[in-house]
Amino acid sequence: MNIMVTGGAGYIGSVVTEDLVGQGYRVFAVDNLIRGNCAAVVPEAVFYQVDISDQNALENIFQSHRVEAVLHLAADTSVEESVAEPTRFFWNNVAGGINLLEAMLKHRVNKLVFSSTAAVYGQPDKLPVTESSPAKPINAYGESKLMFERVLSRYGDNFGMSSVSLRFFNVAGASQRFGADHHPESNLIPLIVKAALGQQDPLPVFGTDYETMDGTGIRDYIHVLDIAQALTLSLDYLQKNSGVKVYNLGNGGGYSVLQVIETARRVTGAEIPIQICPRRPGDPAKLIANSNVAKREIGWQPRYPELESIIESAWRWQKEHPQGYNNR
Ligand code: WQD
Repeated sequence: MNIMVTGGAGYIGSVVTEDLVGQGYRVFAVDNLIRGNCAAVVPEAVFYQVDISDQNALENIFQSHRVEAVLHLAADTSVEESVAEPTRFFWNNVAGGINLLEAMLKHRVNKLVFSSTAAVYGQPDKLPVTESSPAKPINAYGESKLMFERVLSRYGDNFGMSSVSLRFFNVAGASQRFGADHHPESNLIPLIVKAALGQQDPLPVFGTDYETMDGTGIRDYIHVLDIAQALTLSLDYLQKNSGVKVYNLGNGGGYSVLQVIETARRVTGAEIPIQICPRRPGDPAKLIANSNVAKREIGWQPRYPELESIIESAWRWQKEHPQGYNNR
C-alpha cells in the first residue's frame, strides 16, 4: 500500500515512517524541513522536500504514485509559539491542510489520518476527557487543530473524504533510531533529558500554583511507538470502513511536572536542577485521556504505558544523539 506521510521528517513522522516501511508499506514522506530533519527519514522511504501549501508539488506526487491514503502530521506544534503567533498556526495547520485535501480530492485519494491534539479540549471540567467532552481550546494551536477536524467533518459529508483524527495527549520517548529534535525545544520530557545530560540548566518548571496535588501541571504521557501503532491501525481501519472518526490517545494516567522530573532523576541518575517560573501562557492545569473508544474501534493497545519506559527511551536517544540529528 502506498502512503503519503506529511511531516515525515518530524518527530512522530520519522517514527511512523520507519514503522510503516518495516511493515511493507511504500511511504512517500513529505516535509518542508523547516522543523523536520531529512536524516530522520529512513532511506527505504521516498522523500520529497515539499511544503503542504504547494498544491502543485503535492499533486505531482499524487500523479506520479498511486497514493492510497495520507497520514497528515505536518503542523506547527508549539503551544507557546501559537500564543505569540496565532496567524502562522492558522495558515499552516488549517489553510495548509485544506490545500492538501484539495490536492487529494483532485487525485481521488479519500482516506486521511490526522494528528490532532488534546489541546482541542482546553481546560476540561471533567477528567478523564472523552471524545464527547466539550472542545474549548485555550490556545491557537488547539484552535487550529480543532478547526481542521471540523473541516474534515465537512469534507466527509460533502466529498466522501474518510478520516480518522487522533487526539494525541503528551507524546514522548523515542524508537531505537528516531527521537525528538525540535529547535527550539519546548516539550517537557525532551528538555528534561537534555537537562540530565547537562545541556539545559536549570529546567524551568512553569507554574507551581495550579490546583493539582503539588501545584504543577498534570499531563497524560504516551510513548511515540504507541502513537505509531495507532496511526497504522487507523490506516487499516480506513481500508475497511468509511466515515469520519475522532479518537483520544493517552494512557489514562496523569503525572505532574514534578513527578516527571522525579521519575527522570531515578531513570537517569542525574540531579536535574530546576527553576520555579511563572505559568506558561496557554497551558491548562490538567489533561488526562479516556481512550476506550480507540481501543474498542481500532484495536489500539498501548505497549509502553509506563512513564519510566517513555523517559528511558528518550534518555537513551538523547545520550546517543546529544546534538540531535546534527551529530549522530
Ligand atoms: C507539559 C507540562 C508545562 C516545559 C502540547 C500540546 C500537545 C503536544 C505537546 C505537539 C506542562 C510543563 C514544559 C518546561 C515545564 N503538541 N513544562 N517546563 O504543552 O502539555 O502539550 O505540546 O506536538 O498536543 O498540547 O506539552 O511538554 O510542553 O508541557 O514546566 O520547560 O510541562 O507547563 O505543564 P503540552 P509540554
